[in-house]
Amino acid sequence: NDISVLGIKVDLGIYKRGANNGPDAIRKAGLIRGLECKGYNVYDEGDWDSDVELVDYLNDFNNVSLDIRIVTKEFERLANKVKNFCTTDKFPLIIGGDHSISIATIAGISLNYNNLGIIWFDAHADLNTPDTSLSGNIYGMPLAVNLGYGYPRFLEVGYSGPKVKHKNIVLVGTRELDPGEIKFIDNHDIKVFSMKEINRKGIENVMIDVLDYLGKKCDGIHLSFDMDVLDPNYVPGVRTPCSDGVSLSDGIIAMKTIRESKLLSSAEFVEVNPKLDVNQQTARNVVKLVENLF
Ligand code: ARG
Ligand code: MN
Ligand code: MN
Ligand code: MN
Repeated sequence: NDISVLGIKVDLGIYKRGANNGPDAIRKAGLIRGLECKGYNVYDEGDWDSDVELVDYLNDFNNVSLDIRIVTKEFERLANKVKNFCTTDKFPLIIGGDHSISIATIAGISLNYNNLGIIWFDAHADLNTPDTSLSGNIYGMPLAVNLGYGYPRFLEVGYSGPKVKHKNIVLVGTRELDPGEIKFIDNHDIKVFSMKEINRKGIENVMIDVLDYLGKKCDGIHLSFDMDVLDPNYVPGVRTPCSDGVSLSDGIIAMKTIRESKLLSSAEFVEVNPKLDVNQQTARNVVKLVENLF
């Protein structure tokens, strides 16, 4: 009944800043208190930050893609931090940060398993490579990197090569894919429960399928929850809102279904940008989801 919490103040996924203060906002919205009220012992490991050097460097930058060497160095340090964060008997709960952190978090987490499964809640697939990305933003690439595709330097983060198998990935709530991502999914064994499936089958049935699919073969399941999977009505504070998304109540049902399965081994909630948020709504909704996950 122990949960450890790590904030990751990293927003290297895009040159526009803000998601680095996600952990702050989520804490202010009552995350720790919420979990303690449910009877959990919460071990707050504080917030991990990038080097000052890097922040200065970013501020000097204007709308140009980031220096991959510098970003890689940060992800290396972060992957190492997350690896250690996960080697306890407490449940590791991570709060971001933009979705680029998954390059490092999943590298670190995967070291603790032989056959890690990933539930990727996201309006997007984040399966772009430098060749397919239309934006050039790293936050659209993390899942491809986890699978072994992308900037060669990124593929070395944590350890060399793929961190998860294609067949151990499930996308949920998908509704905005770039052409290269559609091709990628068509050519690889990746399970997708798009928004269309959720509307047709209902979220609970979808989640039962997801958990059955991964539970059978995986020795651990990580939840990577991009807040933009929710409908923009509930998440004003995300960089890439996407209409016709998951309702808050469906999000909560999904969390409850995961909890009941007892299969989850780690989780991260990303893409809260306090600069864009309205009345802390996005941060508060992270807390609501988390409260139902435990
Ligand atoms: N597909 C778009 C891109 O590559 C959007 C990705 C959005 N990802 C995110 N983590 N917000 O830029
Ligand atoms: Mn994402
Ligand atoms: Mn997204
Ligand atoms: Mn797009």
